[in-house]
Amino acid sequence: MLDVVAKAVFSTLAASASLKRLASRYGMRHEGSFARRFVAGETVPEAIDAARVIERQGLTVTLDLLGESVGSTTAAAEATGAYVRLIDEIARAGVSRNISLKLTQLGLDIDRATTVDNLRRVLDLAGQADVFVRIDMENSPYIEQTLDTFETVWTLGYRNAGVVIQSCLKRSEGDVRRILALGARIRLVKGAYREPPSVAFQQKSEVDAAFRDLTRLLLTEGTYPAIATHDPDMIDAARRFAKERGVAPDKFEFQMLYGIRRDLQASLAADGYRMRVYVPFGTEWFPYFMRRLGERPANVAFVLRGILSESPKSPESP
Ligand code: FDA
Repeated sequence: MLDVVAKAVFSTLAASASLKRLASRYGMRHEGSFARRFVAGETVPEAIDAARVIERQGLTVTLDLLGESVGSTTAAAEATGAYVRLIDEIARAGVSRNISLKLTQLGLDIDRATTVDNLRRVLDLAGQADVFVRIDMENSPYIEQTLDTFETVWTLGYRNAGVVIQSCLKRSEGDVRRILALGARIRLVKGAYREPPSVAFQQKSEVDAAFRDLTRLLLTEGTYPAIATHDPDMIDAARRFAKERGVAPDKFEFQMLYGIRRDLQASLAADGYRMRVYVPFGTEWFPYFMRRLGERPANVAFVLRGILSESPKSPESP
């Protein structure tokens, strides 16, 4: 119940423009600033530096240029251009060839045709550079359009892309089967958004049970699935099931978010599992950051400590 309330509070705060302005001013100012725990920086070079540090530990990354819900075709074209440049820079830097993006960043709130055009622009270049493109899943009003858009590009022959399915949603088993029928890759997550009881399980135990069931389905029938969670119980269940069924560790991967359970990330890699870290960066970090706080209220104490330790006499202070 507490987690539902926390998600509700933080999704309301995420929409606050004044809080966003305030946070944006302090959150990324320097190495120790509070948002840096979860966000790798605001620029591509910072993200690539973070990727290199992670890769030196034997892990891989997916880079996410933060942004969502753009409201104009110009902004969607800009986000598309930024992704195109990111692909180029990743290829030149020689870090993991894997990116994550959101379709509302490419124009899903404007119209689907624009989104498909922008996505194809990204996928064309990604294909040439051998970069895999993961389409993140947003809140439930976008699911049908996201899956439809994915099917459209799949039908057009793009194979360097995959989607995300959220175990909190009651529809997800059907969606997993729909994507498995294409032979496409799925990242399984619990779901980061506040969703109504009409579409989503409200109890953590139900979300977890669905996650375990879908993990089993993906490990049995999926194409290189990604099990994306920090929950040790979900990870143990996946490891046990894979062992029982003889699914080799190179047939799937675990994924976690930048800055979360780094101990577990390292220990899975040390045990011979594939471990990919989702590295978010960019100036539009506020909604992502608020979702991370909403998942774990203990993070708020961590952030408050960070804010209080900032010097009030710094030159940028009013
Ligand atoms: P759960 O929330 O039950 O947490 C289990 C344990 O993990 C906690 O007890 C704590 O130890 C640790 N933990 C979890 N969250 C933490 C946090 N914020 N800070 C510190 N510790 C934390 N969602 C979505 O809707 N669409 C998407 O496309 C994606 N994409 C995505 C990619 C990757 C690589 C990951 C790992 C996650 C996502 N998510 C996502 C987010 C996902 O839906 C979910 O909100 C978070 O992963 C938290 O859920 P857990 O599975 O970790 O379990």
